[in-house]
Amino acid sequence: MNQFAERFEGITGSAIREIFKLLADPEIISFAGGNPSPECFPKEALADIAKQALLENGDWILQYGPTKGYAPLIDEIIGMMAAEGVTVNVPNVIILSGSSQGLEMMAKTFINKGDVIMVESPTFLGAIQTFKTYEAELVPVKTDDGGILLEDLEKQIKTHKPKFLYVIPNFQNPSGVTLAGDRRQKLVQICAEHGVLVLEDDPYGALRYSGQALPSLKSYDTNDTVIRLMSFSKIISPGIRVGAAVGGAEAIAKFELCKQGMDVHTPILSQVLVYEFLKSGQLPAHIEKIKANYKAKKDLMLKLINETFPKGVTVAPCEGGLFLWLTLPAGIDALDVFKTAVERKVAFVPGTHFFAEGGHENTMRLNFSMVSEDKIRKGMAALAGVIKEAL
Ligand SMILES: Cc1ncc(COP(=O)(O)O)c(C=O)c1O
Repeated sequence: MNQFAERFEGITGSAIREIFKLLADPEIISFAGGNPSPECFPKEALADIAKQALLENGDWILQYGPTKGYAPLIDEIIGMMAAEGVTVNVPNVIILSGSSQGLEMMAKTFINKGDVIMVESPTFLGAIQTFKTYEAELVPVKTDDGGILLEDLEKQIKTHKPKFLYVIPNFQNPSGVTLAGDRRQKLVQICAEHGVLVLEDDPYGALRYSGQALPSLKSYDTNDTVIRLMSFSKIISPGIRVGAAVGGAEAIAKFELCKQGMDVHTPILSQVLVYEFLKSGQLPAHIEKIKANYKAKKDLMLKLINETFPKGVTVAPCEGGLFLWLTLPAGIDALDVFKTAVERKVAFVPGTHFFAEGGHENTMRLNFSMVSEDKIRKGMAALAGVIKEAL
């Protein structure tokens, strides 16, 4: 018998892993994943950059490098923050192996057993799992179509005295919802007043298909309350594993300590790929290409829901990202819908898995980025049938 650490008690991750096993069946039309579409990877550009970089600079690219990251990429991140109206310097930035690593670092840096972390209800499954592994107590904050409800936030802060609030402000995973513009500054103010840190996780912000871009939470930060996680996974490639954290110098120094023991540094080749791709000026046009691809799929999925799904099924407002979030009429269990759907070769993720507090069995998450328009038509027709039967 393995004598695993107590912190793993109750952590299975199995619910969603079981779903992903099904995806090995090539006949399944899967709206379950959260991956970017491979047709949106800039393969040729990255291949050219990699070849040239390795031939010209292989001596240091293939060597150990600084834990904090490749200095020119750090400067690029500083420039990206400046474009958001945020002034930061080298001590405020660390390059990460994906923003997932930022969740792990935040947990390792701040959570003692039993500490309270506030999360949106619902929230990203990976975050729930990471924070629970560090034996945090997760307290959900109520949300509506404009994201976190500030009244509930304040109430929960006063009751639970949390260490930090974890929030995905744009096109949230799983709900697709965006934190309303008029809540952002107040959210930061409330947290700052109560000495609660804010972990702003924003991997989807660049993928906006309609509406106006909103200021980041970090842009309202005046006293190192907000740590902002950035990711290149959804706009360049998740496989190269590059993200960044931007925050107060003290916290970033702790993240650097954590990273030394985690992976020493993010692969330099990956960092060079991102840096050179940014420097070449190709990113804005590339993002437009991705947005056109995903917007068409999102619009199609939404149209099919409106036209073919039973009345009483509602969709959360979604102006970007990768997901649509459906609420079925009360009493319908999306887990039952899921079982029948899989028999008919369609998969999605039942929403209950995304709630730290459980419940909400009548919700479901649909991903639209990974599936062709043809398969969206077929899969949504099957799903409409299953939901009608469940009603
Ligand atoms: C909200 C959220 N945060 C973080 C991640 C992880 O992204 P990365 O590839 O940058 O680790 C994801 C991936 O799906 C996500 O949805």
